[in-house]
Amino acid sequence: MALKYLALNLLLQGLALAGDGCPAVRPPAPISEPAPPAATPETASSTEAAVQVSAVPTTFSVRVSPSAMPSPDAPSTDTTGVDSVSVSPTIPPAASGTLSAAAEKFTGLGTRYGGTCTEEDCWNSGACSFVGYNLPAGIDGSTCVSEDIWNNGANCGGCISVTYKGKTITVMVTNLTGGNATHLDMTPSTWAKLTNGYSGGGVDGIVWEWVTCPIAQTTPLFIKMHAGSSKYWFAATVENARERTAKVEVSSDKGSTWKETSLKNYNMYVLDGVLPDNTAYVRVTSISGSQVIVPDVDLSSGVVTKASKNY
Ligand SMILES: *[C@@H]1O[C@H](CO)[C@@H](O)[C@H](O)[C@H]1NC(C)=O
Ligand SMILES: *[C@@H]1O[C@H](CO)[C@@H](O)[C@H](O)[C@H]1NC(C)=O
Repeated sequence: MALKYLALNLLLQGLALAGDGCPAVRPPAPISEPAPPAATPETASSTEAAVQVSAVPTTFSVRVSPSAMPSPDAPSTDTTGVDSVSVSPTIPPAASGTLSAAAEKFTGLGTRYGGTCTEEDCWNSGACSFVGYNLPAGIDGSTCVSEDIWNNGANCGGCISVTYKGKTITVMVTNLTGGNATHLDMTPSTWAKLTNGYSGGGVDGIVWEWVTCPIAQTTPLFIKMHAGSSKYWFAATVENARERTAKVEVSSDKGSTWKETSLKNYNMYVLDGVLPDNTAYVRVTSISGSQVIVPDVDLSSGVVTKASKNY
């Protein structure tokens, strides 16, 4: 008994001392996939750039053809109002259902990011490639997950119901950190909500499960083209989806034929080869098989195209 608690205390102290960002037990493994070109309209400030460096590999090759590179001072076309998303508050998380028939519950360690980042600043430009994205209304906060939960980025944007001492909140997966298969590492504001303002850095015994995000079905999901994208390099992230995404396909003939993308680390669905046009149809399929087709997706760097509905 005593030894067990001593070990836990040492672990929690270690995590609390781990410094800024998620108290990574081990850093994300380096990946071979290209990160966005360094100069993009989305790299808004040096502060963000510095944060980004910690989450993406420092060396990468950019697959975008030079003629297709966005000019750093090109005006951002990302004006589709990510901030103005409204979600019906009438759908309680409890009614949103779970993703699989037998929802598995996990019990593990809960920790919080070191430092004092505010909710979105903790993870925008992080490993899920969410940029300029705000948590939808109805979602209480967000968490980093470990490589053991990460699933090559496929669990980004997925929602988790987490309970500690009788308090239950719904959080979205937005970033990658160290830890193991049951460990959630939350932003300071999320942590405060879950633990009623506990000032320590970690607690043992959080209980959590995957749930459908409490986003109304009439609230659209988005296709976000990654920085540096174009018809020469299709790299998209699905955002604001009720369920996690299993497949992303692209059509250049208005949906007659589809090409499947592959999920690259940092939550980017990337297509091999060059597309004929600057727009394409995108078909996304959720882990439960629900499909949404988004016509006329603008393939330009950083552009968000809203679907007409959600999974
Ligand atoms: C994401 O997690 C990493 C690893 O813990 C952390 O260093 C970083 O600060 C987090 N946020 C961003 C925006 O990368
Ligand atoms: C994860 O880590 C916690 C705390 O260190 C430990 O109690 C638990 O057994 C681990 N779980 C798994 C699945 O490795």
